[in-house]
Amino acid sequence: MSKRPIIIDTDPGIDDALALAIALFSEELDVRLITTVAGNVSLENVTLNTLRLLNFYGKDVPVAKGAAEPLLAEFVDASNIHGKTGMEGYDFPEPQEELLLPEHAVNAMRRTIMESPEPITLVPIATLTNIALLFAMYPEVKGNIREIVMMGGSASRGNKGVMSEFNIATDPEAAQMVFQSGVPIVMAGLDVGLKALVYPEDSEEIRTMGKVGDMAYHMFKRYRGGSFNTGLKMYDSCAIAYLLCPELFEVVETYVGVELRGAMTAGCTVVDLRGYLHREPNARVCIDVDGEKFRRWFKNAVSKCI
Ligand code: RIB
Ligand code: CA
Repeated sequence: MSKRPIIIDTDPGIDDALALAIALFSEELDVRLITTVAGNVSLENVTLNTLRLLNFYGKDVPVAKGAAEPLLAEFVDASNIHGKTGMEGYDFPEPQEELLLPEHAVNAMRRTIMESPEPITLVPIATLTNIALLFAMYPEVKGNIREIVMMGGSASRGNKGVMSEFNIATDPEAAQMVFQSGVPIVMAGLDVGLKALVYPEDSEEIRTMGKVGDMAYHMFKRYRGGSFNTGLKMYDSCAIAYLLCPELFEVVETYVGVELRGAMTAGCTVVDLRGYLHREPNARVCIDVDGEKFRRWFKNAVSKCI
């Protein structure tokens, strides 16, 4: 069976680092391009982190730098969760600079999509600024995109605001443009991310699973997306898990809007599960995940890395 071609848009980020490893070492995915966007930490740092990870993983995937800040919103990072550099807790090798393309991420995405003989899946596990710019500048790419499988949003509570999830709330205008794009979307939000947990006993097992497992263990000690002792949230791996093992998830097709003007709710995804807004569905939303099965899947996936 041929590998599924994907482009990952990312902001490493400790959970991004594991999602990238699982995708890169999967037998089923062909990571054609990795693009970076400011999010967990600055554009410079997420790009250096991506190049360090590719050196560490031994994977020669082209990388292109994208947006340094949201379209309109003020940029606020998540260094409180991932540490100042975005990947605290492990001594990575030097960034593999030769993988960095001279072109902007949006142009690299357009070229990669338009050159592909088969439709590409976009996998944004960060704020949606690059994806929104891509659709605004080059709408023709939509014809060769299979779907977007994103980590972002929430049908319930938030992790950046009362109701807003970090990737959406960091650039709400970009998120609205993506949800209105007409491109098929799968949304793996906090409804599954908060249940995609790695417990201390899992971390001890993972630590013995080669250099990626050892790296994960040491970064998990510094990661503030949850707690090492009560469960660490593998948000971004949910998007990869959907690609590789969709049966882990309960999914509903519904309308998702992005609130831009709410005094207390700006940046939240409005997931209209009961059809109050009478809008056509524009996304398949992961509303639940089998936490135990996810844990087994995650550990098995890490065991396949180096
Ligand atoms: O809300 C979780 C998301 O925000 C994840 O993608 C994490 O890496 C951060 O970017
Ligand atoms: Ca991320």
